[in-house]
Amino acid sequence: MTDLYRYFSLNSEPFGHRRVFENELDFLDTFPESTYDSGYSRMRARTEEIIREKFLSKGGRPELNHPYYMVVGNCDRWFKGVKGFRASLSIPLENFDPSIISFTYGDSIPVMNGMVEGECSGQVYTLDEICEVVNRRGMPQKRNQECDNGTECYIEVQVWSEKPLERFMSEFAEQDLILHVESVVDATISASPELRSIKDVPQWGVADILSLMRKHPDCDVFMNKIGSLNASHYEDNHIHGIIHAFRCTVYCIALCVIRGYSKNKTLLAIDAVSNHDVGRTVDAANHGRVGADLFRDRHPFYDEWGMRVVMAAIHAHQFKEEDVGGILTGYDVGEDTSFVWEIAELVRDCDALDYVRLGVDGYNPKFVKGGDSKGLVRFAMCLNLMTWRYPRQSMKLFRRILND
Ligand SMILES: [Fe+2]
Ligand SMILES: [Fe+2]
Repeated sequence: MTDLYRYFSLNSEPFGHRRVFENELDFLDTFPESTYDSGYSRMRARTEEIIREKFLSKGGRPELNHPYYMVVGNCDRWFKGVKGFRASLSIPLENFDPSIISFTYGDSIPVMNGMVEGECSGQVYTLDEICEVVNRRGMPQKRNQECDNGTECYIEVQVWSEKPLERFMSEFAEQDLILHVESVVDATISASPELRSIKDVPQWGVADILSLMRKHPDCDVFMNKIGSLNASHYEDNHIHGIIHAFRCTVYCIALCVIRGYSKNKTLLAIDAVSNHDVGRTVDAANHGRVGADLFRDRHPFYDEWGMRVVMAAIHAHQFKEEDVGGILTGYDVGEDTSFVWEIAELVRDCDALDYVRLGVDGYNPKFVKGGDSKGLVRFAMCLNLMTWRYPRQSMKLFRRILND
């Protein structure tokens, strides 16, 4: 029986998922380890869409929008010899339900984008179909080991479900994951003139922040707030969606713990930060106001004064600095406005810390105002990288914080 092979580098998970999100590509592409530019990644995204459509039309049942890639049979000569991958694992084909695997004869980028000629150009095959093609044409790696006769040197498999791969998804030890992510981020910072200046302010280490949060007596109460976020309340994307809310809330908890805020003040801050983009839609012109009103409607038993603070901070987050004061006073939070200012600035800082998700090159750390917030830029980069490249591991990491 044939095996499907996965090739990977030793410093990544075997199935570290290269998800393709248009606006986050620049971030990934700045990493020294990345071998793909954003043009390639965009083409990959389009190609995946086409393959998925064709597979569906042939009765395939993809469970994912972006597949995991494997190849049929051993292709060490190409992947290890020429492409420099250091590791591989093989899984017998019988572990895969035919309804979740599609095939292209050759790498799907050239095959699906008119870069090869012949009968396999533009073709997506089911398992039965690829067997028939192989019977006629043979395994490409046998006759074109180093790709010197065109790009057909392996059969690519698109795996559209995580189920057969789950038990092969390695677990980074917590410490390994943190060190790995920090080393990639540090290399990115040194390579970027815009980012180098963040080191003017001492930057927190990831393990230090996590242990500070862990030691806090109300850590579980704070982290449970994250657990109760509802994905359907957010835009369905990675720019303003729940994963952005998740990361902002982590920055918020970290800052509140660093500042020694009381439990109640921290809970108000968490509510404001985690809800700041709730109800945001493509028409975002007034989304601060929309989010504030939704928060009020969804929390009928909230403390009255606290409600005004949270609503004011949510409402103000989208406005220019000079307009924030006007918004806050509209919520009638009393004579002393310093408290609501602090919460409103915290929301804006957490949001700004997460701007890094839009790309390293355009990231301007000057948007982050609070002196101590500036010490979290590197942490924000690490958390972005973790949640994107190692979503499973980062969620486990935070679940562990919760359970410890
Ligand atoms: Fe927003
Ligand atoms: Fe936001």
